[in-house]
Amino acid sequence: MRMIVRGARLLHTDGTDGTNGTDDPGGAGGLFDVEVAEDGRIARVVPYDDQKEPPATGTLIEAHGALLTAPFVEPHIHLDTALTAGEPRPNASGTLWEGIACWSERKRTLTREDVIARATEVLRWQAAQGVLHVRTHCDVTDPSLTALDALLEVRDRVRDVMHLQIVAFPQEGIVSFPGGEVLLREAVARGADLVGAIPHFEDTREDGVASLGIAFAVAEEHGLRVDAHCDEIDDEQSRFVEVLATLALRSGLRERATASHTTAMGSYGGAYSFKLQRLLARSGISLVSNPFANLNLQGRFDAYPRRRGLTQVKEMLAAGVNVAFGHDDVMDPWNALGTANPLQTALVGLYAAQLTGADEIPVAFSMVTDRAARVLGLSDAEYGITPGAPASFVLLPAASPQEAIRRQVRPRYVVSHGTVLAETPPAPTLLSWPGEAPSEVDFNRP
Ligand code: FE2
Repeated sequence: MRMIVRGARLLHTDGTDGTNGTDDPGGAGGLFDVEVAEDGRIARVVPYDDQKEPPATGTLIEAHGALLTAPFVEPHIHLDTALTAGEPRPNASGTLWEGIACWSERKRTLTREDVIARATEVLRWQAAQGVLHVRTHCDVTDPSLTALDALLEVRDRVRDVMHLQIVAFPQEGIVSFPGGEVLLREAVARGADLVGAIPHFEDTREDGVASLGIAFAVAEEHGLRVDAHCDEIDDEQSRFVEVLATLALRSGLRERATASHTTAMGSYGGAYSFKLQRLLARSGISLVSNPFANLNLQGRFDAYPRRRGLTQVKEMLAAGVNVAFGHDDVMDPWNALGTANPLQTALVGLYAAQLTGADEIPVAFSMVTDRAARVLGLSDAEYGITPGAPASFVLLPAASPQEAIRRQVRPRYVVSHGTVLAETPPAPTLLSWPGEAPSEVDFNRP
């Protein structure tokens, strides 16, 4: 045996406390042992026996009741723009549109080394925080495609420990940008994994519809998925998600299509929203909400009352649509902050979308794990704490998803394909409370 994790708490597949979707109550304390075979896959998941001696060989991780989950999944990030905040100038207005203008200037100075260094740095942050599956968008409205070539190289370099999907993302349009379609097709030819679009940024509604038609046509030609920045605007007239969902339905791409942002949905009235819920549920598409970017960039043109800037997260979940949370920007023209920490995304997202009920907080956790995995198209054989799946998981020093989010814990261990990739030792805080000897602060509820 290559590794054993002893005495871990597992989850139901819906994110609630339990036994990883089985009726098995587990061993002592409801806990399990996870055994990893020499090939880096999970061999067995068995009830924990506190009387049994651990095996003498292989890596031993004593979980002591900590939560073992499949790794975090980042469904929406921009590794090409990351760590460029303030370059060549700050985004003074804070708007999405000025951000695009700043980036347009910055990308003229891109080099292969520049992109590789910044993207790799953020991937290292993600790995350390337990994110092992990443979907990054990459701006392909650049005649040199410098960033794309660099990210393709990064994807291959990290392949053994992290899974990276690259979206050919036409930041400045497919139809409205000169040569946009040619560049999109060239990006796919060079090895992009998905086809993107940005219909609300195109010059006219007709251009926007045409751009989605091109994106789906390219995806179908090459057997790829689609993930479009869609309706990222506070304009209730921006209704491209209905076009995307209909194309997904009629082309058969269905769950292989994703609409990211869809913030205009926060301005739709009840009658249209009802129609849209039915269409989206039928289409099988996923939505990715990006709470940092949406809270920051939307509502900028509003007086009061000012809109929250998010898509209809709660309503679409209730309608049966798969919705995930993404981090989106990390220290770039659209967000000067950001750590690529998925538990931070979940925390901000659950407040922004008001997923604060006792049953809703675990759903927010699933939106950076299981639901995000569905966005990326990961199968049960590729993702989960189940025999046969890759032994890739995180051990969180928390008893539940709610505790992991509340205390913003960093994984004690991050394991990729049966090998420890990151380790964060506990860092206790000693408090000298009046009248008491210094003692360790325990942020768990007594
Ligand atoms: Fe984005």
